Amino acid sequence: MRSKVLITRKIFDEVIAFVRDHFEVDDNQSDIPFPPDTLVQRLEKKAGAITLLTDRIDEDVLSQCPDLKIVSNIAVGYNNIDVPACTRHKVMVTNTPGVLDDTTADFTWALLLATARRLVEADQYLRSSQWTGWKLMEFLGSDVHHKTLGICGLGRIGQGVARRAKGFDMQILYTDLVRATQSAEKELGASFVDKKTLLAQSDFVTLHVPLGPQTTYYVSAAELALMKPTAILINASRGPVVDEKALVQALKEGKIAGAGLDVYEREPEVEPALLVMKNVILAPHIASASYETRLRMAMMAAENLIAGLTGKRPPNLVNEEVLPL
Ligand code: DGY
Repeated sequence: MRSKVLITRKIFDEVIAFVRDHFEVDDNQSDIPFPPDTLVQRLEKKAGAITLLTDRIDEDVLSQCPDLKIVSNIAVGYNNIDVPACTRHKVMVTNTPGVLDDTTADFTWALLLATARRLVEADQYLRSSQWTGWKLMEFLGSDVHHKTLGICGLGRIGQGVARRAKGFDMQILYTDLVRATQSAEKELGASFVDKKTLLAQSDFVTLHVPLGPQTTYYVSAAELALMKPTAILINASRGPVVDEKALVQALKEGKIAGAGLDVYEREPEVEPALLVMKNVILAPHIASASYETRLRMAMMAAENLIAGLTGKRPPNLVNEEVLPL
């Protein structure tokens, strides 16, 4: 008998077909997240699930789905999944690391440049027929080249951002729990500093830490108060890494000059004040959203699922302890 699996949201047809070659598939073509009760109902008798970061998999779900053996998340982040609870229930958790690093680093740069050079505001101005001709003093933004970039979290994505910064002749500072090797620092041209120094000295602060108890509100009022009034904050990591209300306050009080955000504390809600601020660019969590990368992420999730349910070790197993070596 073929195992049954659930695909919780709309994904690429070719990936569904690939999973169907191995299992009996139930999927959600409407692309609206299942409410918690429906998710549990649809997971009934399923051995595996391909999930998105909008699906909460916690103790409550797991205790009602005893047949579940693997949750294969299409994302590098897995803060939507209670991993210790999965481990207790002997459910494998997998993610999709690596493949989205360059795409996310590219998008971080898109946000940074667009915010510094007021691109969205200028586009809206032109489209609404307000442009009457070239003016010396119009849309004066902030230079990016030769400025100081502060990277919080020098993992794969942070490193990708640093590599791109070299082309802009920037001074690169970084902070992290663990210092990078000397050769990595040399290759990236990045100097390790503590968080306070980074916040105080950077013209652009970009966040690339994973979300966890230690990084929730990693940037709040105290951190924003340390930043330069001309500084721009970029967040393409996870929304709760920034205290959104404190950010609104800092922007209103001119404690920082602008922000480029791809993620929000309570997605898809956004602090209403941000929606009307011209010095803020808002994207709907699309940093990894290139066709190639999202397809590869979905395929990786399918490969993880298939491995996990056919007696192999999934290549991207998060809770290694469920499958002792
Ligand atoms: C992730 O993978 O964690 C992103 O937020 C979505 O690409």
